[in-house]
Amino acid sequence: MNSMYRRTSKPLKLSISLLLFLFAATGCNGKPDPAAVTYSPTITTLISNNCYPCHLSASASGGVILDTYDGVKTSVENTKLVSAVNHNEGSSPMPQGADKLDQTDIDTIQTWIKNGSYETPPLEGVFIQPFRSCQGLESSDNLTSEDGLVCTSVAISGSTEENRSFIDYGSCDVVLSQRPYWYKAPFNMVDPADPRLNDEAFMTELNWINSQVRSSGCICCHDSSNSGRRPAVWDISSEGVWTDQLSDQGVAILAGKVSSEILGEFIPANNNGFDRYSTGFPTTDVERVQTFFNNELDRRSVTDADIAEMEEFGYFINDIIKREPEACTSGEGVREDGNVYWTGGEARYIYIKESGTENPGVPPSNDNPEGALWRLDVRANADALTSPIVYGSTPDGTYQVTPDNGTAPDLESGKEYHLYVLQDILVPACNCLFTAP
Ligand code: HEC
Ligand code: HEC
Repeated sequence: MNSMYRRTSKPLKLSISLLLFLFAATGCNGKPDPAAVTYSPTITTLISNNCYPCHLSASASGGVILDTYDGVKTSVENTKLVSAVNHNEGSSPMPQGADKLDQTDIDTIQTWIKNGSYETPPLEGVFIQPFRSCQGLESSDNLTSEDGLVCTSVAISGSTEENRSFIDYGSCDVVLSQRPYWYKAPFNMVDPADPRLNDEAFMTELNWINSQVRSSGCICCHDSSNSGRRPAVWDISSEGVWTDQLSDQGVAILAGKVSSEILGEFIPANNNGFDRYSTGFPTTDVERVQTFFNNELDRRSVTDADIAEMEEFGYFINDIIKREPEACTSGEGVREDGNVYWTGGEARYIYIKESGTENPGVPPSNDNPEGALWRLDVRANADALTSPIVYGSTPDGTYQVTPDNGTAPDLESGKEYHLYVLQDILVPACNCLFTAP
């Protein structure tokens, strides 16, 4: 395979900084250390001590099975397990006929859910796919909730519910698996005597902006006091008017005038109503965010002509996604024997696509481009695949994403297809065109 298919130095930097970060990650606020909470033995022990014999496969009280991983996963995904152990309104309080679990046990279950996509611990340095996590109310949260649950899209572009903190209900460990972090100094210093600090109307808007950022995954790297991490450029906790810290391009990104779509976004219905289609961070009020940052652009005398000159956000990501496939030259692709072969290293994502279609980008919105015929993902806790595997199969530790149900489509003999294999998100291993046998 020629050098085009090798990792570029930048994604490599990405995985190294990720690795360093995962090593540094520890439990905070006296909460269980996420890395120490695993399905087996942590969760299985807790369940067998408290929920058996009523929820064995053989007894299955209420149809709920808790002695298999799939059974537990079902009760996590339909939110009933978390509701039941929190004794939330409208749920059946569990364990039935016994005391509520200790808060530490409840925290352990919730930590497991919000950190590992209900898996055993993800492998270090591996991208964890976005998922939805529902948790009982934090005791520090003074807002109520109808069903006693707070659900969060755990991802860099994800949000928890309005006026709540992503730190409480999401997971920065997951976010840090999705994007590299490093400290970067602000472009400008804030002025502690900024007269806007005494402008009530302005401060109302700034505080509202902060609360919106606090609800999103952005807080993990852009809020020093809550994440405990030095901020990258801008810090919503710095004294004064933090927006001064941004570059002009940074302001334009947050205003939505420079697109950051390449980093992926949720549809608002899957993100507690937060929309990131036309602003930098997800928001429940697009116009209000745009007005705020457009005012800042005006104050800086940044014109639309200046903005038109700015580069789209996404630097190396664009180079990776836009890379055109070449012809497969070493027998890559689906062969006569029904196997998919690839070169370029181990794989966590395999796509067979119509030729001439776009390369996949960042989840949750850009990773299933039109024309994808078959996509196989490896779970974050499973080892990567080595070539070859059977086309259409789901080896241990993998799951089929496309088609979302049913079998992989038959390929038309003599037709050209696009094989796109990734070592991890944004780290392509193999990108070439083959002819079906
Ligand atoms: C003494 C028996 C018993 C024990 C122990 C027990 N359960 Fe249950 N559980 C039941 C019964 C019976 C039902 C069905 C009736 C109901 O929903 O109240 C049920 C229902 C459930 C449901 C479905 C609730 C719903 O809203 O549909 C969940 C989830 C559940 N249990 C979880 C657990 C968990 C987790 C534990 C341990 C922490 C546990 N149970 C311990 C007997 C038990
Ligand atoms: C895992 C850490 C991390 C997360 C989470 C994160 N960022 Fe950043 N962000 C960075 C880093 C690192 C930089 C600096 C990049 C560089 O060196 O230029 C940065 C820079 C930026 C800039 C450029 C600032 C300027 O003035 O030029 C913007 C805008 C930005 N981030 C927006 C966001 C938004 C919006 C979110 C949430 C959707 C977010 N970031 C989430 C790490 C992160």
